[in-house]
Order: sequence, then C-alpha cells, then structure tokens
Amino acid sequence: MRSVIDVSDLSVEELGSIIATAEDIIENPDAYAERCRRKKLATLFFEPSTRTRMSFEAAMLELGGSVLSMSSAASSSASKGESVADTAKVITQYADIIAMRHPKEGAALVAAKAAGIPVINAGDGGHCHPTQTLADLLTIHRRFGRFSGLNVGFCGDLKYGRTVHSLLRALMRYENVSFTLISPEELKLPAYSKAAIENKGCPCVETADLEAAIPSLDVLYMTRVQQERFADRAEYERLKDTYVLTPEKLAGAKPHLAILHPLPRVNEISVRVDDHPGAAYFEQVKNGKFMRMALILFLLEQNDGGPVRLPGRWTGEERPGFVCGNPACISHVEQELSPLVKLTPEGEKCLYCEH
Ligand code: CP
Repeated sequence: MRSVIDVSDLSVEELGSIIATAEDIIENPDAYAERCRRKKLATLFFEPSTRTRMSFEAAMLELGGSVLSMSSAASSSASKGESVADTAKVITQYADIIAMRHPKEGAALVAAKAAGIPVINAGDGGHCHPTQTLADLLTIHRRFGRFSGLNVGFCGDLKYGRTVHSLLRALMRYENVSFTLISPEELKLPAYSKAAIENKGCPCVETADLEAAIPSLDVLYMTRVQQERFADRAEYERLKDTYVLTPEKLAGAKPHLAILHPLPRVNEISVRVDDHPGAAYFEQVKNGKFMRMALILFLLEQNDGGPVRLPGRWTGEERPGFVCGNPACISHVEQELSPLVKLTPEGEKCLYCEH
C-alpha cells in the first residue's frame, strides 16, 4: 500500500504514467466514470481550502466513488484533543483512501504511518503540497509538451510556500531545467531547498527584481504572501504587496510564457492579466481535478491490503530528547510522538518537517 507525502515519493516514470492517465481522462471521461464504484474517499481538512478539497471530492465523484468530508478542525474531534494518528486509525474503519490537509508540518507523515489505507498529503503547513504540484505539472506539460529545458521562475513567498517547495523538487529531476527565484530577502527559499537544487546541479539565479527576470522565463509561478504563516503581523503587512503582476510588466515576456499560480490570489496578479494568453491559473485548477483522479486510481489500484510503504526518505532514527527547532512542526503537538531524526549531508533533520 502506498501513501504520498511529497511529490518525490513518485518516481519520474510514475509521474509520467499519472500525467498520461490524466490526459486520457480528459479525452475519454466516460471510460473512467465507474472506476471507483463502491470506494470511499475521506477528505480531512484541518485547515481552510476551496480548490484542493473540492477537486478531490469532484475527482472521486467523477470516478463513480463516494466522499466523506470533514471541512474544518472545529467540526471534528481534533477540537477535543484527538491526535492525528488516532484520527487516521478511525477513518481507516470507514474509507478506502484519505486526503488530508493540516496546518502542522509533518502531519501527513504521522497520518500515513498510523492509517491502514493510503494517505495523500493535501498540504501540511509550509512543508509540501504534492497534488498542487501534480496540477502544476499537467499544466506545464499541456502548454509545452515537456519539462526539460525550461527556465521556471518562482515569485513571492518562497520561504513558506509549500507549493513552491514541492514543484521545485519535482522539476529538478528533469534534464536541463533552470530556476529563477524572485523574492524579497525575508522570503527567500529555505536553505534546505536551495541545497537540494545545488546538489542536483540545476542552474539557479536569485533576484528581488520581477520585471527584470520576466524576459528570460518560460514559466512564471506567482505565489501569495501567506498571512497565516507569519508570527509577526507587521512583517506580513510590510511584505504583502512586494510583487503585483500587471500586463505592463509582461510586455517583455516570451510569447509562450505560461503564468501559473496555485491560488487563492490576493492582489499579486492583477485581474487584468487574466485575459493574457499566458494566464494558465484557471486551467491549472481544472487540471488539478484530473491529476487527483489519476492519483486516486494509481493508489487504489496499488493497494494490496499490506502495510503502508513509504520511501526510505521517510525513515528516521529514534532520538529521545531531540526537540525540533521548527515551531510549526507536528512533533510539538502530537501526543507521545517519538522524535525521529535523519542524518543528511547538511546535518541532522527532523524527519517530520525536514527542518
Ligand atoms: N491551491 C490550493 O491549495 O488552494 P486551496 O487552499 O483553496 O485548497
């Protein structure tokens, strides 16, 4: 049985196969209309969502399955203190597959280790958001027919932006992909993500100047500065309007530039950009549903009823007394969670949140 914590839990070949399935679903939806008959998806959302929860639910319904939905922590027994692990064990009794969003980093790993059914991470704090990455990949693939050779710009909140971290991890596995990281100093990509790019040998430029970077880009991935990730409200207010993409700023863009955004947007893309031929963010939303359909099929068809299998990356050493330095890590709130550490070339990391 497989779960997906991050997009790198899927090999390049598996990603290719999931993209091919999604493209076939787009061409032949009727062939998939009964594929999940009598199967149930539980959507456990401890943090707000419009797209991810609804697209998971639409995906399962379009596969002929059913949905059990929990749309907020307040409406669940988490509000009475139930742990993530116990919640996952309980939902295993009702459903065939779980999609879970949680504000704490590493919560999806805790759920996947406890559940007896596949768990899909639908976003864990600022850590990972693999199914958004699947939506992003299909959108790029449908625009360019490839990933290799593209210069992909990421703009905005690269520090807390889990969609950025996951898409970078996915793209750096393809040939000759280069990155342009556009952010203010305070919202630069975390050191562990930067180290991953450097270890892969991908060309990478860091800048704070969006307008100067645009002419070199094939893909521009805009992100929102996320109020909910800031401990200091004044810092959010100071940084929130750093970048606003307008048609004027796109004047020097390549004709084929694709503009992506995981949404929701606040004001970082002017609505006047929506009519630009490069604007791909609403097709990205639709692609998310097709990729979630393909992922649900992939995981259910692999479910042999055996124990969960996670890549070695999610195996750590028990280290009693280790305290993760990341205040957003699940290890600070989950009951009796053994501290797990992994050794990397950059030093010791908490297994759950990877800080
Ligand atoms: N892109 C995304 O994750 O949107 P939601 O927060 O609405 O799910």
